Amino acid sequence: MLNRIAVAEGDITIQHVDAIVNAANNALLGGGGVDGAIHRAAGPGLLAECRRLNGCATGQAKITSGYNLPAQWVIHTVGPIWQGGNQDEDNLLAQCYQNSLALAEQNDIKSIAFPSISTGVYSFPMERAAKIAVTEIKQFLEKGSQIERVVLVCFGQRAYNIHKAVVKEIIGAGDITS
Ligand code: APR
Repeated sequence: MLNRIAVAEGDITIQHVDAIVNAANNALLGGGGVDGAIHRAAGPGLLAECRRLNGCATGQAKITSGYNLPAQWVIHTVGPIWQGGNQDEDNLLAQCYQNSLALAEQNDIKSIAFPSISTGVYSFPMERAAKIAVTEIKQFLEKGSQIERVVLVCFGQRAYNIHKAVVKEIIGAGDITS
């Protein structure tokens, strides 16, 4: 388990993995944050394909090509907007990870990078989100998944430290760097 989950600090658009996950919105037509960065790096072909997907419900995931990105695939998922914790946010965020990993498995993807879904514009508390993310990834990999590598790509040192500490707490890992 330890060597299948990595924490990295930096820009998800330059990660050399089979698939990167986009923290999108329900329209799937681009936006700011990591969504904007991925669309800028992928180029116009990504938006053209997204237009044909007819949006994405919160907690669900849809897959497209990666176009100009190093990654061959982009898995778009829509996280919950934080509203205080009583609107099923934890469960919806967990579904983002479950459904993204299931979609990766279905497409024979072996390496996948996640941003910290919902922790930017959608204001989900980052440590709480990281615990959900790592728990869901651990459970998925323990069920005999063929996925070989999951990278949590953190934007900034604070996010990196939080995710590294959560991985250590839940996976019982040593010092993990990607
Ligand atoms: N690489 C990795 N992580 C990034 C990058 C990047 N290039 N840019 C931003 N992030 C981080 C943010 O710091 C945050 O921790 O991704 C996390 C998610 O933040 P957002 O991108 O704001 O996504 P989210 O909180 O899920 O809100 C989604 O924002 O961009 C719009 O269209 C998007 O409406 C949707 C909403």
